Amino acid sequence: MPFTPRSDQQIYRLDYLAPTFTIPHLELHFSLDPEVSRVRSQFKVIVEESIDLPHTIKLHGSKMLFDIQLKIDGKEEDISSLLDEAGNLSLTLNTREQLIEIKNSVSPVANSALSGLYLSRGIICSDCEPQGFRNITLFPDRPDVMTQYRVTLEADQCCPTLLSNGNLVEEGIIDESRHYAVWEDPYPKPTYLFAIVAGDLQYIEDQHIRPDGRPVQLRIYASKENIGACDFALESLKKAMRWDEDRFGLACDLDFYNVVAVDDFNSGAMENKGLNLFNTSCILATKEQATDRDFRFVEAVIAHEYFHNWTGNRITCQDWFNLSLKESLTVFREQEFMSEVEPGIRRIEDVNFLRLHQFPEDQGPLAHAVRPDKLGSIENIYTTTTYEKGAEIIRLYQTILGREGFDRGFARYIKEFDGMAVTVDDLYAAMKMENPRLFENFPLWYSQRGTPKVQVATEYYPDKREMRLSLKQFLFDPVTNELQEPLPIPIKYAFFNRQGEMLLEETYTLTMAHQCLIFHNIDEVPVISLLRDFSAPVTVDYPQSIDDLKILIQYESDYFAKWEAVQKLVERLLFNHSLQRQEQIDMIGDALAPLFQYAYQEPGFAALLLTLPDNDHLFDHLESEEILPLYQIKREVEVGLARRFQEDWRALYNRFQEDSIAARAIKNVALHYLSRLPHESELAVRQYEKADNMTDINAALTALLSNQNPKAKVILESFYHRYEGDTLLVDRYFSLLGRNPNLTMDDVAMISNHPAFDLKNPNRARAIVGSIGRNRIALARIGAPLYRWIGAEIVKVDKINAVTAARLITPFAKLSRLPESLKEEVRAICQEMLNIGEISHNLSDQLKRILL
Ligand code: PHE
Ligand code: ZN
Repeated sequence: MPFTPRSDQQIYRLDYLAPTFTIPHLELHFSLDPEVSRVRSQFKVIVEESIDLPHTIKLHGSKMLFDIQLKIDGKEEDISSLLDEAGNLSLTLNTREQLIEIKNSVSPVANSALSGLYLSRGIICSDCEPQGFRNITLFPDRPDVMTQYRVTLEADQCCPTLLSNGNLVEEGIIDESRHYAVWEDPYPKPTYLFAIVAGDLQYIEDQHIRPDGRPVQLRIYASKENIGACDFALESLKKAMRWDEDRFGLACDLDFYNVVAVDDFNSGAMENKGLNLFNTSCILATKEQATDRDFRFVEAVIAHEYFHNWTGNRITCQDWFNLSLKESLTVFREQEFMSEVEPGIRRIEDVNFLRLHQFPEDQGPLAHAVRPDKLGSIENIYTTTTYEKGAEIIRLYQTILGREGFDRGFARYIKEFDGMAVTVDDLYAAMKMENPRLFENFPLWYSQRGTPKVQVATEYYPDKREMRLSLKQFLFDPVTNELQEPLPIPIKYAFFNRQGEMLLEETYTLTMAHQCLIFHNIDEVPVISLLRDFSAPVTVDYPQSIDDLKILIQYESDYFAKWEAVQKLVERLLFNHSLQRQEQIDMIGDALAPLFQYAYQEPGFAALLLTLPDNDHLFDHLESEEILPLYQIKREVEVGLARRFQEDWRALYNRFQEDSIAARAIKNVALHYLSRLPHESELAVRQYEKADNMTDINAALTALLSNQNPKAKVILESFYHRYEGDTLLVDRYFSLLGRNPNLTMDDVAMISNHPAFDLKNPNRARAIVGSIGRNRIALARIGAPLYRWIGAEIVKVDKINAVTAARLITPFAKLSRLPESLKEEVRAICQEMLNIGEISHNLSDQLKRILL
């Protein structure tokens, strides 16, 4: 029922049919055991008055279900003829209201896909988004069917913790070996928000007092090894709750809010109602184990899952084509929350992430509209486009409507659609109701794929004292190359004079393909800063002189625009082949020189300004054969900058030894440059040896590896042995190895034979296969053998866990940029993977799009 695949294996958004029935209550009983768990389910289906009887509905199931029994109104049915290939059941209802009783079994230990009910280090847990519930029992597994759950969990006493959504209403002992707990969730919810956990867990707890004075009891559960690293997450949760009350007037609607950390998890975390499940990588944080970046990440993910309670759980998505509805709002809210401290720096990091990951995705074969019209696999749209581009679209509402208009629209959305399953069109409608001037073509942002390009040209007429700004927008479909409709694109800009004074600042929203802005009373050619605060997710094509960029670097007050000016200037000079190396160094150095003083005032921001553009960002402008030469040029420039500013780097390094995030950030930028100098090669070694925190250890290891320090390998091995017992740090060990620009096939062989090599745990698979796949320098240097290795590992992962495998495919999505001969080889590798025949639908969907 909705979305049966057509013959092309795709599902279509417009095939959506609203449910013809309701299921107000669901009674679930689990007799839990890692080998075989028994599930009993009982519910009444009520067919809508407008529907003729008899009426057939579909209960989704899967190959993971066995020993299935079905009763309709107390009468045993033979199910064998009712099940289809995939394990779905067609249920014919003869009366308006019928009682369905189902019994079935599942095997958590056999579930390596980690979707449905599975085992993670002795903990029985579940993950149901988007369609995992069908791996637990037969039920309409779609987000627009909302049901109230009452769940009984029965398990061994050696599994003392029994959790599900909502409130614990009863618990007790069955006999000397078994006990039980009953949970009731007062809020109707779709299947994907259902969760259970059973295991030997410990917890930490605290309280949050809501504005009306009522407390919410907060708990974080984890294994005894991990519970000591959860305090930061608990603090973050309280902060997030307070923030949502202050900013949006949204309070927690539950008296109990539980969070559980597990080692094996396909994604980062999951917003199940009142029972969030977390990948340990997104929740554990101590100074000794986690970098400052990891801490921020934990805070962001905790907030994200909590914010879903309103944007996702209370108001959910009608269908999975509208996945971005809940994810975009939630990422946006998370970004706003994270920006409360250091807004400028956070914005730069968010934009940098978007451009490093989402832009290439949106310009390659895996591009998709934020709200796609057809899909090969639902799991494959958990992408940076759905999340991060989606969040930029929400930000566009705010930029266009202003904070007040946006908040009004958002409040309207909450009020209008609470308790419902809706679409991005409904969000637009709510925004429009409160802001009638909102552009009619705004929803095109959801339906057109690709990154819009804005081309800017200027003309100055001294006699008229007039400045003209011509702005053209283009949006080509990345797959078909067709030109698409113009979008509303807000451009924040400012004019500066040559002395660095700001003459004006404004926002103008482009709506047409070509527009011209005319400015009067302009006495001299101004320096123009465009797309301040990254006011829209577009690329801007505006050839600006090096002198203009230098003025912006020095005088821009907008954080993003100042940083962007550095990025642009460095990029321009690095790509300028007519310059000698020393000239490049001198010119970049001259632009950076004024920033050293500034580093003492704003060390955190200066750390970003003094870091040259990310390799991956530079490489995105290049054909693959240009990657290694550019990498070499960039290194030489860094050596030059290290030498020229040696004293300054040293001074910064020594001055910022204190225990703060900003201090570590600037200190480690200094370390990065200094480590490029042979006579400073001991600096990273000493930092590694005396560091008391993972940020400094990680920076030291990265520096040692990237400069081929003779001690690098020995130190990295000592790191491994020191942290062998700490899963997340072993992951870090593998990603350091995998990201090493000097990676060789010998290293790859060593990794493959490593005792800790493991593809069953998604974090480990990502740390190994994912980090090597993202190593563009090694890929450019080694070529086909490395691609072949990655392809083979992805196929192995696919047999275990298809969702994780399909997400590792990204290195192959850059195929079209490879030199001719390599392109053919890599195509052949993809083709072979596809020919294996037994690969999953998720992986073949990705490969087919890449090979198209
Ligand atoms: N909905 C989760 C989030 O964004 C991600 C997720 C996807 C979790 C699929 C589990 C399964 O927070
Ligand atoms: Zn989310």
